[in-house]
Amino acid sequence: MSAATAGARDIAAAVAALRAGRLVAFPSETVYGLGADASNPDAVRRIFEAKGRPADHPVIVHVASAARLGDWARDIPAAARALADAFWPGPMTLVLRRQPHVSDLVTGGQDTVGIRVPSHPVAQALLHAFGGGVAGPSANRFGRISPTTAEHVREELGDRVDIVLEGGKSDVGIESTIIDLSGPEPALLRPGMLDIARAEALLGAPLRAPGTASPRVSGMLASHYAPRTPTRQVAPDALAAEVVAASSRVAVLARRVRPPELVVARWIEAPLDAAGYAHDLYSHLRTLDREGVDLILVESVPGSSDWTAIRDRLGRAATRPEIP
Ligand code: TXA
Ligand code: MG
Repeated sequence: MSAATAGARDIAAAVAALRAGRLVAFPSETVYGLGADASNPDAVRRIFEAKGRPADHPVIVHVASAARLGDWARDIPAAARALADAFWPGPMTLVLRRQPHVSDLVTGGQDTVGIRVPSHPVAQALLHAFGGGVAGPSANRFGRISPTTAEHVREELGDRVDIVLEGGKSDVGIESTIIDLSGPEPALLRPGMLDIARAEALLGAPLRAPGTASPRVSGMLASHYAPRTPTRQVAPDALAAEVVAASSRVAVLARRVRPPELVVARWIEAPLDAAGYAHDLYSHLRTLDREGVDLILVESVPGSSDWTAIRDRLGRAATRPEIP
């Protein structure tokens, strides 16, 4: 059982901590974020230290509502207003041209800023009470699986974070969809569970895949969101043979029950639908990672568009870091 959801006293303490330049982990509907006052560069610097993340990676600024967009972004195109109206509060991040005052630590030294209005009631309460922008990457150590519960945050960051606001399990379960509207054509920098066809209809244009000229997105690194245990994807019809062939201790994430003849250290039966699968994905990967096995096998998922973001995350989880 998780602790009770953060209440008014917790929010007040969190606001005081943010004002004092300290770190507050907060729940969002996508994953938990590691927050700091976005207008305080020393506070933002602490985020990078706590995560062990390179300082040239930009962080998202979370705000209470789209009315705050102009505080952080300028030259805001009509397309941004249309997407904001349709999808905020919610699991979408917009990359826009930044206001000159926005710290290089937030933008990664780029001329753009990522902005999101989360819908989680605790995030909303925090942002409304704080008033300003909260810079916040996912509350995990760099390159690791994003946390979807307060307990995961404590596992990842321990006393590197001053306050962890409790908000239950994140609904969406994987990171926001990032849409870049700072250039001549809208681009999809990171897929999430947002309905892309609907976004494209609103934009009246297809979303370009990120090109080489796109801004840095750490979520775009080939190995990211990764368990520590070596992880491989396997086609459904090859799974049984792979389990049998593996000479080591194996754990499996598959969208079906374990065939009784297959012996594994752990078999997790994942939901059949994309939303359910995304909701549980990171906690399942954490569970399998804790199993102490030599190999995690993940049954590959459908190729349809509603599974795009899940295929993206599984692809990154299954890529081992390059050994220099
Ligand atoms: O769902 C989410 O987006 C969560 C919750 C906490 O909001 N946050 C999250 O943050 O996933 P993070 O830092 O783990 O991933 C945000 C991504 C990073 O890959 C970062 O590079 C990118 O957003 N990003 C932030 N600002 C950007 C900018 N100005 N241009 C391009 N990418 C940017
Ligand atoms: Mg992250």
